[in-house]
Amino acid sequence: MKPRLNVVLVASAGLLLAAASICVQRAGAVKTNCFPELKQNEDPGRERCEQRKCEYEGQQSDNSPSCLWTRSGYIVSSVAENTNTQYSAVVTRQQDYNGPFPGSRDLDELRFSVKAISDNGLRITISDLGGVRYQVPKEALNIPEPGPTNPDATVYRWEANTSSSLLDVYQKTHPDQAIMSLLKTGFVFSDQFIQLSLGLDCQNIVGFGEHNHERLVHDRRYKRWSIFTRDAVRGISTAPIHPYFVCTDAGKHMSVLLKNSNAIEVELTPDGIVYRVLGGILDFYVFMASSPESLAQTYSAAIGHPLMPPYWSLGFQLCRWGYRNITEVQNVIARNRAIGLPYDAQYGDIDYMQNTMDFTIDATNYPGLSSMVDDLHSHGQKYFVILDPAISSDEEMHKQVLPSQRYEPYHDGLARGVYVKNLDDTVHEGEVWPGRTVFPDYTLSATQAWWERWVSDFYYNQSIRVDGLWIDMNEPASFTYEPHKPQNFCPNNTWNYPPYIPTSFIGDRFYEKTICMETKHNWGRHYDVHSLYGHSMGMQSYQTLRNLFPEKRPIVFSRSTFVGSGRYAQHWLGDNHSRWPDLHWSIITMLEFNLFGFPYNGADICGFVYDATREMCIRWTQLGAFYPFSRNHNIKEADGVRTRDQDPASWDAEAQKIMKDALFFRYKYLPYLYTLFHYAHTNGATVVRSLAHEFPNDTAAVRIDEQFLWGSAMLISPVLSPAKLSIQAYLPPEDGWYDAYTGEEVQETGFVMLDAPLEHINVHIRKGFILPWQTPSTTTVSSRQNGLGLLVAAKQLPSSNLKATGSLFWDDGESFETYTAKKFILHEFELSTDETSGNHVLVIRTPFNGYKDPNSLKFENITILGFDTSKDWSVSVNSEQHSGIRVNPNRKTLILDSLSLPLGQSHSITFAVRSAGTAVASVIAVAICALLSTAVTGNNRWSLAILN
Ligand SMILES: *[C@@H]1O[C@H](CO)[C@@H](O)[C@H](O)[C@H]1NC(C)=O
Ligand SMILES: *[C@@H]1O[C@H](CO)[C@@H](O)[C@H](O)[C@H]1NC(C)=O
Ligand SMILES: *[C@@H]1O[C@H](CO)[C@@H](O)[C@H](O)[C@H]1NC(C)=O
Ligand SMILES: *[C@@H]1O[C@H](CO)[C@@H](O)[C@H](O)[C@H]1NC(C)=O
Ligand SMILES: *[C@@H]1O[C@H](CO)[C@@H](O)[C@H](O)[C@H]1NC(C)=O
Repeated sequence: MKPRLNVVLVASAGLLLAAASICVQRAGAVKTNCFPELKQNEDPGRERCEQRKCEYEGQQSDNSPSCLWTRSGYIVSSVAENTNTQYSAVVTRQQDYNGPFPGSRDLDELRFSVKAISDNGLRITISDLGGVRYQVPKEALNIPEPGPTNPDATVYRWEANTSSSLLDVYQKTHPDQAIMSLLKTGFVFSDQFIQLSLGLDCQNIVGFGEHNHERLVHDRRYKRWSIFTRDAVRGISTAPIHPYFVCTDAGKHMSVLLKNSNAIEVELTPDGIVYRVLGGILDFYVFMASSPESLAQTYSAAIGHPLMPPYWSLGFQLCRWGYRNITEVQNVIARNRAIGLPYDAQYGDIDYMQNTMDFTIDATNYPGLSSMVDDLHSHGQKYFVILDPAISSDEEMHKQVLPSQRYEPYHDGLARGVYVKNLDDTVHEGEVWPGRTVFPDYTLSATQAWWERWVSDFYYNQSIRVDGLWIDMNEPASFTYEPHKPQNFCPNNTWNYPPYIPTSFIGDRFYEKTICMETKHNWGRHYDVHSLYGHSMGMQSYQTLRNLFPEKRPIVFSRSTFVGSGRYAQHWLGDNHSRWPDLHWSIITMLEFNLFGFPYNGADICGFVYDATREMCIRWTQLGAFYPFSRNHNIKEADGVRTRDQDPASWDAEAQKIMKDALFFRYKYLPYLYTLFHYAHTNGATVVRSLAHEFPNDTAAVRIDEQFLWGSAMLISPVLSPAKLSIQAYLPPEDGWYDAYTGEEVQETGFVMLDAPLEHINVHIRKGFILPWQTPSTTTVSSRQNGLGLLVAAKQLPSSNLKATGSLFWDDGESFETYTAKKFILHEFELSTDETSGNHVLVIRTPFNGYKDPNSLKFENITILGFDTSKDWSVSVNSEQHSGIRVNPNRKTLILDSLSLPLGQSHSITFAVRSAGTAVASVIAVAICALLSTAVTGNNRWSLAILN
């Protein structure tokens, strides 16, 4: 069946507008809840409200708080420095002004400073005068402050200490209204409760994470989110910590990071954001740019560009928890190879371990793991193992289950003093999969050597030649303080029982499902560094792999991440459910993590918890074929019942074929995807983008979060709910689109209805772009040896001129830092039209060639969409006449095949109109040729069956 386009009468356009009209009034009037400890819509009543010296409004229908904090009590008392680029002042608390929680001491004097850190960024800090309060250590995150190129070069300006704000920040392009204000009203700075309201003159907020956001653009009806690492199936707050948001509105593009690793709560209100922070200092970084993409690149440069993933890691990957023995794993590997699935990597979850202990192998159920990994390698496939941070400390158990009766990694760690300690310097214990455990302190440099020793032992002495690490449970998770174990409790102190616990947290106890908050790490008290645990483990695991195979790119997946972890680790989107809404939510989180600096991310395909249905798993595999990180992963059991297998080969033949088609399409365009990663790694570009990100001036695109783009050029419109044979999609009219499978030009843009039979995921190519591709195979090792091609999606300009551009980054796909070592090829492609002759010219330029591919790769086929096929074209390739042309007049498609243009060299192809005499005959000839070829190509969808 072929996709068909229909225009749809969009009743829901009105809905969209209505949703968008939750309007910002003006910066300066954020309604700040005086009783944040109560749940939303819980009314403290007038009396309690007035006791707290707040204003009682009564219950409101718009979700706004019934009792408002309307006072301000910190005064800018003396200004030490005040220039265009630097401001510094002391802020003093008035005698009668106290925070809402008496258990938390209010600070009397604060240092308030503002600094221009670059043309696009400023830093605002509010801290204690003495500077002794906890701050995120520089080793964890060091944001450069080069300063502006000159004092007037900043795209922003500020005004400090106005009547209502500590600071107003303006984007210079919009001089009339501050885009952001640090409000005096509601400001509280006490030991364990800091509150600040940020007024925003800016509507569309995207970001904060990781949470399960049901829409990309935030609901601002007093919605609260907590930001504190937590072992939880995707919900209110999970492992990664990104106190960062982007706000865009009518040409304004701003983003704000709060650099703070304490527990944070944000409340999104129609007028701005209320921050409630449980420790540390306020350390804001504000960035502004002229477009969402340049803003993303500005932020990426500040926190550090993400890693370049190895080429093979863009291939499809398989994982499940609950492979009961190695035979099961081998069967899964064998059956997925047998169906010819594109499949690059296999994972081992905790099943392979002896009693789930790191660096051990279950001798009974996993004999021969080493040979299994070697077998994967000999098939061009890779292997990841999971490692958890917690180390078993149960010596009785060690005696029973380990051949040596001693768990050396544990004893070695004790000897080196690497574990997190209690206040009395004893080692802190908790409980994870192997029972009683201790927790390595990855913020301590000695831990690096210890961790590396045991990873290396596993690799060399136990001969498991892993290609990457998967670090899990690093929130850190501990089962000692689970909700159903109220008999276990951490000491009664102010760290475990802080005066305020955000109501948006999961659970009642602050330390629920983790370790006690007073415990000691090198970087500080657990209370302060809790959310840095996964980050520090990621840093040390990255360094471990750097040392283990220095020539290769390290790849580490971490469940818990912090701002800047993308320099060390990758992230999968945590534990999800095999439920339809999770398909939609995965797109939202994938887009957010591109903004957080993790372009290589993706959700568990077909869902983690519960059984996926056939239809869901098909639709999810089609969607997951476009996750930058494409992995099918499944839980062992749910509600006590073993979950069904969900790897592609476990389904029927028709399902397998549909899944393979989607993945072959992915593999075909991996050169394009890989090139996007090159720009992410070197410029901080996003790989996956929302429509609003790519088309910021298209107001209809603002709230679309069911579709996404690969780079600027490829639009993916998946089916996200059951029993759908068509979907409503939005195709921005700005440039126009082609169907990626048929090459057909899309006739209607805007909101359209797209056919979406079960075997089809809609993909469109934007006019004006050139995408490199390669004939796919079942692994990237073999696809990298195949011929290359170009898909040229021409944009037709007035006067029949054509235009399209693109690029290709190519290297060996796995060496460390080929870019800085200059061991790569960069091609730029351009289609243009010579004004005088009317000839079209396609050039392949080579701005850089520092790599020789061993496979003598060539561009073999070039397809141009949007070509005027009514004329008879003579084609010359590098000045020689070329005869292998086919055209499809109906689809305005021209194909050059049997080309042989070596990669790494520059080429030029000219298309000139032949004199009228020969035209007719040759068009007829190629049309016949086209018909013949249809029969041959059949319905191989990934082969770009342009001539079907
Ligand atoms: C800051 O502004 C307040 C209110 O407008 C004013 O009372 C105070 O003197 C100002 N502080 C300084 C140092 O100018
Ligand atoms: C592996 O596990 C499966 C399922 O429990 C079982 O049927 C099979 O006998 C096991 N094979 C080996 C070699 O232990
Ligand atoms: C902790 O100690 C304080 C002061 O003694 C007491 O008021 C509070 O109820 C205790 N909390 C818990 C959870 O035991
Ligand atoms: C959006 O509009 C602004 C102002 O009109 C313009 O400067 C900018 O280039 C446009 N952006 C895009 C991506 O078209
Ligand atoms: C190019 O097209 C020819 C003829 O259609 C085909 O045989 C060949 O496999 C194609 N090459 C690539 C790299 O796809």
